[in-house]
Amino acid sequence: MAIGPLNRLLGHVLRHQPAACHSYDAPPGSAALRRSIARRGGDAGYDVSADDIVITSGAKEAVYLSIGAVTKAGDTVAIESPAYYALLEVLSSLGLRALEIASHPRHGINLDDLARALESQPVAAVALVSNFSNPTGSCMTDAAKRRLVGLLEAADVPLVEDDVYGDLVYEGRRPSAIKAFDSRGLVLYCSSYSKTLSPGLRVGWAIPGRYQNEVELLKLVVNQATAVAPQLALAAFLDSGGCDRHIRKVRAMYGDQMASMIDAVERHFPASTRLTRPQGGHVLWVQLPAGVDAMDLYDDADRSGIRIAPGPMFSPSHGYRNFIRLNTGFPWSETTERQMTTLGRLVAERVGSGGV
Ligand SMILES: Cc1ncc(COP(=O)(O)O)c(C=O)c1O
Repeated sequence: MAIGPLNRLLGHVLRHQPAACHSYDAPPGSAALRRSIARRGGDAGYDVSADDIVITSGAKEAVYLSIGAVTKAGDTVAIESPAYYALLEVLSSLGLRALEIASHPRHGINLDDLARALESQPVAAVALVSNFSNPTGSCMTDAAKRRLVGLLEAADVPLVEDDVYGDLVYEGRRPSAIKAFDSRGLVLYCSSYSKTLSPGLRVGWAIPGRYQNEVELLKLVVNQATAVAPQLALAAFLDSGGCDRHIRKVRAMYGDQMASMIDAVERHFPASTRLTRPQGGHVLWVQLPAGVDAMDLYDDADRSGIRIAPGPMFSPSHGYRNFIRLNTGFPWSETTERQMTTLGRLVAERVGSGGV
């Protein structure tokens, strides 16, 4: 993603603030950046101050630190299913047990099932992606977000909310964060500028609520602090209004790319294929005809240079065998069109050869 003004700001910061850029920072990170992030919180409906924010090296680190802060090895964490595969890696590296709660491809986690789980067994935390989840693209309604906070409060269980895609709504208002409904500090909110600006900047943040000290301590233990130059350049970019202009552009661009991918799947895949219609983000969850094996399809697609994410990646019990996730985060091109034609043919061959 080419962002000239941000690149220039990075150069400016390195030239004019060399002492700051080359010193150790400490958690919670740059005060200037935390102030800018706090000012923008209203877009997602939460009202926090700079003091409530901990800068992290991307959302992934924010999630890792947040889960680490509220669990100990052997604990159970309830997750939406299917779930972002990196969350599964975090749970397994921390020795945690994942409890899969079914998630609707449009509205997210099933709250009746979650309520039953919270009542029937010890659950140390809940973790999910609230808006335009990966891999399904689901987005929880405000009513569901409010109800979820009520369930968490009743059970006194924290939630690690990953909202890395919330800003990428294609049209209309950005959806609220679950954090917006949290008055008791039970939600540890995690996000970053990886999806909207640049994954290479490695700048994200956590709003850990009542677990702020634990998250700051873990951040210090894990890597001291996030690199200073990207934090300062980003703060200046946010304050200049450049970031908002950029986000408006990428929203429309991602919307077009998603529409092109949906259209291609509808034209090239067998008629019994089902797919989600996300209103934001850049992942598309596709249910292939029954019996088509996504792992087997992955191998053939890979040999043709086509990248797909097979469904079993998104579940600790390796379900979703006839599902794939397509990434729509790249500009549509003739190559993508050709690849979708090939992928559709590979799926159709499996249906034709007794795959059903
Ligand atoms: C749901 C989700 N959370 C977090 C990340 C990683 O974010 P970051 O690059 O800021 O660590 C991704 C990247 O794909 C993601 O899909």
